[in-house]
Amino acid sequence: MQDLTIAVVGATGAVGAEFLRIVETRYPNLPKLKLLASSRSAGKTIKVGGQDFVVEEATVNSFDGVDVAFISASSAVSHELAPAAVAAGAVVIDDGSAFRMEDSVPLVVPEVNGADVEWHEGIISIPNCSTTPLVMAAHPLHQVNPIKRMVADTYQSVSGAGGGAMANLREQSEKLLDADSLTSKSGEGQIAYNVVPQIDRFLDSGYTFEEQKMKQESQKILHAPEIQISATCVRVPVYISHSASVHIEFTRPMMVEEATELLKAMPGITVLDNPADYPMPWDVAGEDDVFIGRIRQDMSHPSGLVLWIVSDNLRKGAALNSLQIAEELVSRGRLKPKNISGVTS
Ligand SMILES: NC(=O)c1ccc[n+]([C@@H]2O[C@H](COP(=O)([O-])OP(=O)(O)OC[C@H]3O[C@@H](n4cnc5c(N)ncnc54)[C@H](OP(=O)(O)O)[C@@H]3O)[C@@H](O)[C@H]2O)c1
Repeated sequence: MQDLTIAVVGATGAVGAEFLRIVETRYPNLPKLKLLASSRSAGKTIKVGGQDFVVEEATVNSFDGVDVAFISASSAVSHELAPAAVAAGAVVIDDGSAFRMEDSVPLVVPEVNGADVEWHEGIISIPNCSTTPLVMAAHPLHQVNPIKRMVADTYQSVSGAGGGAMANLREQSEKLLDADSLTSKSGEGQIAYNVVPQIDRFLDSGYTFEEQKMKQESQKILHAPEIQISATCVRVPVYISHSASVHIEFTRPMMVEEATELLKAMPGITVLDNPADYPMPWDVAGEDDVFIGRIRQDMSHPSGLVLWIVSDNLRKGAALNSLQIAEELVSRGRLKPKNISGVTS
């Protein structure tokens, strides 16, 4: 990775900042970095691994000499810049929903479907931050006992909505602690001391787009369109890490002990099997793994299991997964620095 030239579009955002923190700890010899954001941030300086980098405005001309471009901004930005980056010879790893469901774009969680990077045509997408932990948990179980149905109810942190939403929670909490508005009705956008059963826009089905993403993206990553999935995605006043209560129905009964062993053997998962030692977002923030606890038989179904899943949405849910995709490409000889071999994918 250290020989690559990496462009980071959205370097000033919540995901971008986490991405740079991971880069400086994961690669002691820093790759060449090009930090890009909107014109608002052009000229700002960001320190990575002790070195100062000046942020540039991202334009279609930003990708000359770039081997891999990580885009973590918005769908509009991805639609505009990803084709330009590909045309310049870079592989694009895109964090947003712009291309995830396109047939020509692999949607990848390396521990689950790393081989899918092989058929990319320039762009690889990463899943939504609530989809990734779900498929990490489902994959090892589905391999031995096909899953028929999953019901996932999420408790998603505000950082999933970006740096602005984190600042909003802080400001609202401070105001409420001043106590002058404790009796007021919750206004639109009230997240402090509240939970909001809507993430993203509503669809005609009555589900939200976030809930539809969990269904469609999980089916694509697991190569299992037959699995029935229903989600309710809820925003909670937590800064970092998404949690989910997941009910899984298998083809045959799955004992807790077998599920625990399968999950423990899955790279990137930490199982906390003492029922009282369950994972919580506060503790999981800053961790790379997906944490699973409260594994139990579903008393409402003979072939059902219930899991409690928590993961850092900015790391495995976004930045870390993106970097692992690049590492997967490198390990398969599908991403090489232009300045050495002239080959990028
Ligand atoms: N947060 C998560 O947990 C998570 C997980 C998975 C995927 N994602 C996806 O990652 C993306 C970014 O999320 P975030 O949480 O980091 O959002 P954020 O904190 O709001 O940051 C947005 C970033 O995009 C940049 N940007 C905005 N307009 C731009 C433009 N015209 N050209 C270039 N850069 C521009 C911003 O730059 P300025 O600072 O200059 O405005 C900033 O760096 C979204 O697509 C989101 O869906 C997020």
